[in-house]
Amino acid sequence: MYQNNDDFEIYEDEAASFIKIKDKYRHGHHPKPTRKTSYESNEDVQRWLKEQASESSASREFHPTMLSSQRDGPWIHSSLSQFYEEDLISDVLYIAKSGKEASVFCCVAHPDTAYDVLAAKVYRPRMFRNLRNDAIYRQSRVVVDEHKKAMGNSRAKRVMSRKNAKSRALQVSSWIGFEYETQIQLYEAGVHVPKPLSHIGNAILMEYLGDREKQAPLLREVILEAEEARPLFEQILADIELMFAHNRVHGDLSEYNILYWEGAVMLIDFAQAVDPRHSPAVLQLLQRDIERVCQYFSAYGIEASAQEIAYDLWSRYMGPLPD
Ligand SMILES: Nc1ncnc2c1ncn2[C@@H]1O[C@H](COP(=O)(O)OP(=O)(O)OP(=O)(O)O)[C@@H](O)[C@H]1O
Ligand SMILES: [Mg+2]
Repeated sequence: MYQNNDDFEIYEDEAASFIKIKDKYRHGHHPKPTRKTSYESNEDVQRWLKEQASESSASREFHPTMLSSQRDGPWIHSSLSQFYEEDLISDVLYIAKSGKEASVFCCVAHPDTAYDVLAAKVYRPRMFRNLRNDAIYRQSRVVVDEHKKAMGNSRAKRVMSRKNAKSRALQVSSWIGFEYETQIQLYEAGVHVPKPLSHIGNAILMEYLGDREKQAPLLREVILEAEEARPLFEQILADIELMFAHNRVHGDLSEYNILYWEGAVMLIDFAQAVDPRHSPAVLQLLQRDIERVCQYFSAYGIEASAQEIAYDLWSRYMGPLPD
């Protein structure tokens, strides 16, 4: 379902450059220029996926027809087969969205899950070199080690600053783990987010908004009825507050990360979530999230001051505003 060949090209470049990074650090010198390598022969990528897998030793047949025609099929296949082996999904139906860093697949849910379809968000190899490294994100996230234990600040800093392959892999799984843990925490707190079901290596499995034929549109793609706008706006603000009360700021909230389905909205994509207790700079992110929401709803005649809302939230939950 990729629209054009450029997608494949980008994908192959990413795999090749991932191998280059690994080679460089393994052999301690620059590798010879490598030929573009396909996913099938990409041992490092495959090994990383295996390391991330749980103990499941099963290798039952999992051959979704939809993936067989994809040139990136093996990467996606390895990422999703763990969910298959754990009886969470039974097939892959279509790509809901193929993004820069992750693709989201609509999967048929295993009957035991009580869902009809599920969303699998699969990160691409690009994640190995494109981790967000801005100070604000570095300061505001908890780093977890290979046993999913939170690391102390100085140990985390040491590990995260290393550039070797092991540390990159740790950074990637820590990053995705934080996204997953955030989504669980928010779901349990009652924030409107898709229910997360599992996280293995570079993939997250969650409730799917949409059905077997089509995915839910983004909020930016729908035209709301006049009377829907205000309650949805208020729900989103209530969600932002509930997140804040649970020490999370979305960090990338806008009509692009809100899905609309059957009259309701849900927030998605916690890849850039941050904890306001770790840095006063998070106030800017909170304000930006609220500004984008206010901006979207201003087209429906809703007026609100994002700054006032952000300052009010901060002072109620965090205390005095930072200088
Ligand atoms: N639970 C879900 N149900 C249905 N569709 C989803 C779900 N989660 C994500 N999507 C679809 O996949 C897209 C990408 O997901 P998400 O925003 O989490 O990833 P992303 O890393 O931001 O990707 P991109 O780089 O393309 O923005 C969403 O815009 C949405 O269309
Ligand atoms: Mg997104």
